[in-house]
Amino acid sequence: MMTLAQYLNHHSANPAVTELITTVTDVGKTISQLLQKGALADILGEAGNQNVQGEEQKKLDVLANDLLLEALADNKHCAGVASEELDHATPANKDGSLLILFDPLDGSSNIDINMAVGTIFSILPYQRQGQISADEDFLQAGNQQLAAGYLLYGTSTVLTLTIDDNVAMFSLDPDSGDYLLIEEQVQISADTSEYAINASNYRYWQPPMQQYIDELIAGKTGVRGRDFNTRWVAAMVGDVHRILCRGGLFTYPFDTKDPNKAGKLRLMYEANPMSLLIERAGGMATDAITRILDIEPTDIHQRVPVVLGSKNEVAYVKQLHSAHNES
Ligand code: AHG
Ligand code: MN
Ligand code: MN
Repeated sequence: MMTLAQYLNHHSANPAVTELITTVTDVGKTISQLLQKGALADILGEAGNQNVQGEEQKKLDVLANDLLLEALADNKHCAGVASEELDHATPANKDGSLLILFDPLDGSSNIDINMAVGTIFSILPYQRQGQISADEDFLQAGNQQLAAGYLLYGTSTVLTLTIDDNVAMFSLDPDSGDYLLIEEQVQISADTSEYAINASNYRYWQPPMQQYIDELIAGKTGVRGRDFNTRWVAAMVGDVHRILCRGGLFTYPFDTKDPNKAGKLRLMYEANPMSLLIERAGGMATDAITRILDIEPTDIHQRVPVVLGSKNEVAYVKQLHSAHNES
């Protein structure tokens, strides 16, 4: 079977990207080992502080962030690091040609209950080589990403990656410690009968999203004429992985639960890298109006509504929003 190193050798046109991915995926092995030990490695529970977004940090949020930051700061290609858990981006090597952004631990509420969590990353070009990087350098649309991917720490550890037109999946072999290629050209079915949403927020959604979910729940007795099924991992990385494996729709829509947030998910650390993977696998990713990858960011921590997955289903949600906005 092909190792990740061999895959990168064949597919990556940019040796700096290869080295950065190698650094991230090496840290992923450490996080995976810590998760396997769980309580025995003293990684569960609260860290006792909040991140810049006012969210309680878990011990593993902090640990995963520190491990990634430390390893990436040492990488000569890395000009700066931005993370969901850091107030501001951290400059690294000013002569580096790349910026990296990550959600070190996605699905934090799953850590303490032994459920799937992940690490999401996005790599952007650095435009001011030779000068010290700052937050503004990261404010590039998702369509500028040179690479993106995630590590899913589930029953096994899986790496999903895009560095060219393809999306590839690797499984971490605990015996050899290598990531081995399991799928070279991931493709998502255009249609689906599975959807993921936290329906407890229903009363905060906008009318077109309420209408969409009402239609799915009505199933074959309603306008859709067939039944749908819900799945919710409570870690985007798990829901996106399921969609890449067997299709589906995932949404964390606009809601009015917290007037300071346009949605729950973060554009730079979650929505952009996942949208690149989904689009390259033949799916679609939108905020219900605009293509996610075309959103021009104004803040490294900004939030965005997300609807992604099987193309025809996502297009239908978008159509409901357009019809509502025009009426
Ligand atoms: P994070 O743990 O990085 O803060 O992200 C959690 C996100 C996302 O992964 C998941 O889809 C969603 O929050 C879960 O939200 P609910 O708590 O509403 O289920
Ligand atoms: Mn997350
Ligand atoms: Mn996180």
